[in-house]
Parts: sequence; structure tokens; C-alpha cells
Amino acid sequence: MKKTIALLPGDGIGKEVVDVTVEILKAIAEHFNHQFQFNYGLIGGDAIDQKGTPLPEETIEACKKSDAIILGAVGGPKWDKNPVELRPERGLLALRKALDLYANLRPITTFDSLLDSSPLKKEYVSGVDFVIVRELTGGLYFGKPSERIVRDGEDSVVDTLFYKRSEIERILVSAFEIAQKRRKHVTSVDKANVLESSRVWREVAEEVSARYPDVTLEHMLVDNAAMQLIRSPRQFDVIVTENMFGDILSDEASMITGSLGMLSSASLSSSGLHLYEPVHGSAPDIAGKGLANPVATILSAAMLLRQSFGLEEEAKAIEKAVDNVLNSGTRTADLANGEKAVSTKQMGEEIKNALADDHAILN
Ligand code: NAD
Ligand code: IPM
Ligand code: MN
Repeated sequence: MKKTIALLPGDGIGKEVVDVTVEILKAIAEHFNHQFQFNYGLIGGDAIDQKGTPLPEETIEACKKSDAIILGAVGGPKWDKNPVELRPERGLLALRKALDLYANLRPITTFDSLLDSSPLKKEYVSGVDFVIVRELTGGLYFGKPSERIVRDGEDSVVDTLFYKRSEIERILVSAFEIAQKRRKHVTSVDKANVLESSRVWREVAEEVSARYPDVTLEHMLVDNAAMQLIRSPRQFDVIVTENMFGDILSDEASMITGSLGMLSSASLSSSGLHLYEPVHGSAPDIAGKGLANPVATILSAAMLLRQSFGLEEEAKAIEKAVDNVLNSGTRTADLANGEKAVSTKQMGEEIKNALADDHAILN
């Protein structure tokens, strides 16, 4: 198979984890006889420094010419005081909007070998397997107005939570479609006791649910959901929620797996051109030190192979290699509980070797 993948490493550890992931994809191409061409693009702080904008036009073009996209992470203290249009995060938000990447899937699955790495008790986190379906192109992140204003003679500020009914409907449809292929349970998370947007969200959830009689719909208030994630995470199959709630709940849920560095994601679009990225950010506190866990991005690449290219066997090979390496006790610092840890690159090497070993056995 011949495919083009756009690579947007971004800032901080984004570059480190994408570098390692490219090595894994090259190994997959070699073992399974594919040709992957990589198109690099600038985004975030790097793009601001080199091109004066967090999302240069040529980056969007490079994405559109590709069959799928991998993004590292954007942001860092260097640009935190910039005016809003020149913030790295604006580049990512603009890309999500430009490509209509509205459905962000964030799977939360525990690895048996990592049960001791979670700060939560083993008996609560073992066997957890759910997916957060986060709406990604609407809500508070994109609502207008979003600005400083003067009201009643006082300096004030407004952000707007805006959704078209159709935007709520399509993300709920995504969640129900996913649930049909899983354990057929959707938990729709909202704040319907306070927010009008959540009350409409609930109405639409009920309407969509009627089209999927084999799937159970449960509504849960977001504050309760935050608590239930810790109290009994195994109850969840598919969680669907609006943009900001999904952002917050997924970082929280990462601790069930042991580290934010384990969480992969796929941002699916209406056009079929999808983006894959780790859930974590650019981690300025560890950037440049070789401490980042590359597994989130490597598993995002596995999602890409499965979802965008239909390469199930190749996706499974990556997942198995990651599992084998973790089973062997190899850990990056985030998962090592203070014990001996390997670097980002060494973790990548181990996973590549595990791929090669497995491939040799298969052939
Ligand atoms: P962060 O996700 O970058 O880091 C949070 C904590 O988790 C840090 O202690 C970090 O060291 C750790 N961590 C994150 N990923 C890790 C990995 N792969 N391996 C080991 N440890 C890891 O969040 P933050 O510190 O709040 O934000 C830093 C910057 O990243 C900000 O500029 C923010 O806007 C940006 N950000 C970008 C994205 C993205 O590009 N998708 C996502 C989140 C945050
Ligand atoms: C994420 C990040 C982004 C978000 C930021 C960097 C805009 O936290 O991808 O989870 O909030 O969506
Ligand atoms: Mn986030």
C-alpha cells in the first residue's frame, strides 16, 4: 500500500514523540511491504517563530495532500504571553476547524502490566476499557463573542458556549455508532441542571438514541462523571460529551492507565481526512530531556493504520509490540515509580525490536 502521512511534530515533547513514532511506522512499512511518504508541516510555536503564524497555509495544504495526519503537541511558556492570534494553541484549534475534525476518540484501556503504575487501586482499574467521544469543533472553544468587554461600567469578560443542533447530533451519532460495535452503552455527560446548551444536548441525545434501540443511553452530570471515573471506571463503555468537558475528563481518566503519556486519540472528520494525536501536550517541564513517554503517539499511529488505512494487522502488530515491551518491565520515567527508566528513544527502539521479533516469528 502506498500512502502519504502529514507529520506535524509541533513543540516541546511533540517533536520527540513524533520522531520515535516515525521510526515505528518505517518499521511497519518494511515488515508489511508498504510505502509511507512523510510530509512535514509547521504548527504551533515553531510556526510562529519561523512563519509568523501558528498555522501556515502550507501546513493546511500539506495535510490536504495527505491520506492522514499525525500531530505531536503545541505550546510552551515562550509563547504564553503572546496575543491570542499568535498563541500556538490557536494553530491546533484552527486546524481542527479547517479540516472539520469534529469527533475526537480517546480510548482508555488499562494494560495489566501497568496496574501498579496507576495511583488508583488495582482492583478498581483492572479491566477498564472505555472510549471518550469528545466533540472537538464547537462549544466554548469556538463560540463568539470571546472577548474582554465593559459591562455595568466594569471590566468584564465573555466566552460563549455555542452549538448548532446538527453539531450535537453528529457527535451523538458517532458515539452510538461506536457503542454498537462495543458493549452498547452510551453515557452522555452534561450539566443539564444548569446549562441550556446541556438541556438541548440531552434532548438530541434522546432523539438519536431512539434510532439505536440496541444501545442503552444514560445521562450523567459532569461533576458526578468526574467522581464516577475514579470510583468505578469499569461502568463506562462510551462516554460522549461536549468539547471542554471531554478535554478535562480525558486528562483525569488518563490516570486510570497510569500516565497521560499512554493516551492516544483519533480526531475524525466529515471529509475522511483524519488526524491522530496523543492526548497530552508539549510538556515543557520535561521537554528536551528524553523523558517523554512516546507510547501515546505510537498508539495513535496504530489507530491511524486501522481507521484511515484499514490496516488491522499492522495496527495490532504495534499494539502487541507495546504490550510486549511493557510486559517485559521496560518503563519511561512517568510509569517507573521512581525505579530505573528508559529514554524516549530507547522506548521506541524496544518497541521496534519487539515488532521485528514478532514479525520474525510470524514469517
Ligand atoms: P501537558 O499534557 O503538556 O503536561 C502535563 C503533565 O504531564 C506534565 O507534568 C508533563 O510532564 C506530563 N506529561 C505529558 N505528556 C507526557 C508524556 N508523553 N510522557 C511523560 N509525561 C508526560 O499539559 P500542560 O503542562 O498543562 O501544558 C503544556 C503545554 O502544552 C501548554 O502550552 C498547553 O497549551 C499545551 N497542550 C497542548 C496539547 C496539544 O497540542 N494537543 C494538549 C495539552 C496541552
Ligand atoms: C488537547 C489540548 C487542547 C484542547 C489545547 C492545546 C487547545 O488540551 O488536545 O486536549 O484543549 O483541546
Ligand atoms: Mn487537553
